[in-house]
Amino acid sequence: MNAPIPHLAPALRDAGIDRSFLQDVLGGLSAPRKHLSAKYFYDRRGSELFEDITRLPEYYPTRTELAILDRYGPEIGAGLAPGAALVEFGSGSTAKVRRLLPHLSDLAAYVPVDVSEEFLRSEAEELGRDFPHLRVEPVAADFTKPFPLPDDLKDAPKAGFFPGSTLGNFEPELAAGLLASFARTLGSGATLIVGIDLVKDKAVLDAAYDDAAGVTAAFNLNLLTRINRELGADFDLDGFSHQAFFDENLGRIEMHLVSRRSQLVTVAGVPFHFGSGETIHTENSYKYTVPGFRALARGAGWEHARVWTDPDGLFSVHALTASTIRRQ
Ligand code: SAH
Ligand code: AVI
Repeated sequence: MNAPIPHLAPALRDAGIDRSFLQDVLGGLSAPRKHLSAKYFYDRRGSELFEDITRLPEYYPTRTELAILDRYGPEIGAGLAPGAALVEFGSGSTAKVRRLLPHLSDLAAYVPVDVSEEFLRSEAEELGRDFPHLRVEPVAADFTKPFPLPDDLKDAPKAGFFPGSTLGNFEPELAAGLLASFARTLGSGATLIVGIDLVKDKAVLDAAYDDAAGVTAAFNLNLLTRINRELGADFDLDGFSHQAFFDENLGRIEMHLVSRRSQLVTVAGVPFHFGSGETIHTENSYKYTVPGFRALARGAGWEHARVWTDPDGLFSVHALTASTIRRQ
């Protein structure tokens, strides 16, 4: 899109604002159906709120995936090459890799990759203190774009870890592209362990994304707080409410921020009108079946090696192996 950056308030022009964040927000709010990218949820506060979500009674994915990792850790670990560099995409609190580390023999390094830089660095430091013999090499990057791994790890065999069903936050076509790009990053022969949330009863899914304590609502609204602070916007937080629902036809949770009234909001000097009831679409969270995910992975050039699930079939962890590396 042609970002309306020339309309920027003069004070913001040189104020060290993140131009791609600004362009994405201006572009998303200018679209006929307003939307924002879910990756912007994760400033420091957003990462902390996500951690609060993982402890909610309604949010079953985290505790279920942790139980799968605890139960099958030895089998999962056995599939990773000894001496590999383990790259985790969207590592967050590193709670999940902590469950795998006891089952991995002499890792060359653990490389957590995350867009939430401050949170990444503090979690990596803490992990390094708790596992003093592990080399921890945090990389602050957007994993949807090419990013470099530490130079001296280029020749080490690689393994990937992508838990939490973060892949579900991407449209299936983009998810396949992301898996293909991870295959290029990790190299042929690599194993990728991916956590994927499964399709289930709508009431269970709706509750997981609209909890009684309002933590998911706070996580959703924090995006507006971040835009106010970092992009000089004037969103009135009381003017928007959280909405989340499972769309059974599309197989995804949609999260929105709903304008409670007709209102005008200014972002970096650019005005945007919101009608009463108009929404900003802030996140999708796709849910898969095991065969559905297997087909997606195969289409992205990964062989499907193993799957582990919990007894109630709520969540799945997959081992994929990169057989052929596709060029862009
Ligand atoms: N893996 C953790 C955290 C999941 S939350 C778990 O399973 O609990 C999603 C994580 O991915 C957040 O830490 C967020 O900052 C990160 N993230 C989201 N989009 C990203 C992107 N495009 N590039 C890098 N990290 C991203
Ligand atoms: C990170 N991601 C997989 C979470 C999810 O379940 O889609 C983000 C989240 N959004 C609301 N609750 C949790």
